[in-house]
Amino acid sequence: LPDPDVTELTGEGVAALLPRPDARSDKYRRGVVGIAAGSHRYTGAAVLAVGGAIRAGAGMVRYAGVAEPVAQVRARWPEAVVTELAPARDDGRTGPETGTRYASPEAGGVDLGKRIEDVGRVQAWVLGPGLGTGTEAHAVARAILAGDVPVLVDADGLTLIAHDRSLLRRDAPVLITPHAGELSRLLQVSRGKIEARRLEYARLAAAELGVTVLLKGSTTVVAREGDPVRVNPTGSPWLATGGTGDVLAGLAGTLLAAGLDCYDAASCAAYLHGIAGRYGPLAAGDVAEALPEVMRSVTNRPRHRG
Ligand code: APR
Ligand code: MG
Repeated sequence: LPDPDVTELTGEGVAALLPRPDARSDKYRRGVVGIAAGSHRYTGAAVLAVGGAIRAGAGMVRYAGVAEPVAQVRARWPEAVVTELAPARDDGRTGPETGTRYASPEAGGVDLGKRIEDVGRVQAWVLGPGLGTGTEAHAVARAILAGDVPVLVDADGLTLIAHDRSLLRRDAPVLITPHAGELSRLLQVSRGKIEARRLEYARLAAAELGVTVLLKGSTTVVAREGDPVRVNPTGSPWLATGGTGDVLAGLAGTLLAAGLDCYDAASCAAYLHGIAGRYGPLAAGDVAEALPEVMRSVTNRPRHRG
């Protein structure tokens, strides 16, 4: 593992990159972000990813999911435009994976991947939080990654690509947001080795997979082939609570949809998320709620320090 070039993110740098609406802005120009997250079992991940995107100032959020998370997203976020990919299960089974019931048209179901085109145009996708890893989740991932807009892949989306790397064969950019355990599965390298050399493995993953990597942890780093690894100086152990990663995915998705490239979107998202986490103790939803104030403070006080 060669020594990577390293730079530290700064408030000034992040402020200069953050999009600011002006008189010519409309919701499409500000950025439409698509979110494919949540499942019958994991509804909260959908609510939190949508919340991160909305509170980060998306022009519009289009959410796609199955009935149970759809109901939760509709109840919590009237601002989101929601597409129900499949109806509520009525076969009495439980679990994140819905088997072949909806995935196989022969079985009288619908192909959830086919339904992705009904969502409408987005400028970037967030794929994976709580999505499940079964046939249907795979069909959704394949349909989204077959498109031509940037895709952020997180959580179950990372499990899907660990099992099927061919999902990553695309021309448009990909940003992955693993924690060390998720990166361990992607690279087939032990978690301990990754924790010991986080910058090096983030960089290795970027080169090996041809993606931008935001590696989460007590210190978050962002790597892209050919560029220095960016180390995030903000952050807080209060962030070590379930669902904060889903908020980060939504936040970074909004910045991608606004036109930042993967490297800059990931860097800004890590920095802002880290500051939002300082107002603890907090629940993941509180991190999303803190984002507007954090974004104001970073843009209004350019010398805001990490
Ligand atoms: N200091 C600073 N930041 C931290 C720390 C820490 N000690 N621990 C975690 N964080 C930050 C990470 O950098 C990241 O931004 O909290 C966030 C956690 O994100 P995830 O690891 O994706 O966790 P999340 O998805 O929210 O948790 C839900 O998903 O994969 C599973 O095992 C995971 O049970 C967890 C679940
Ligand atoms: Mg996570």
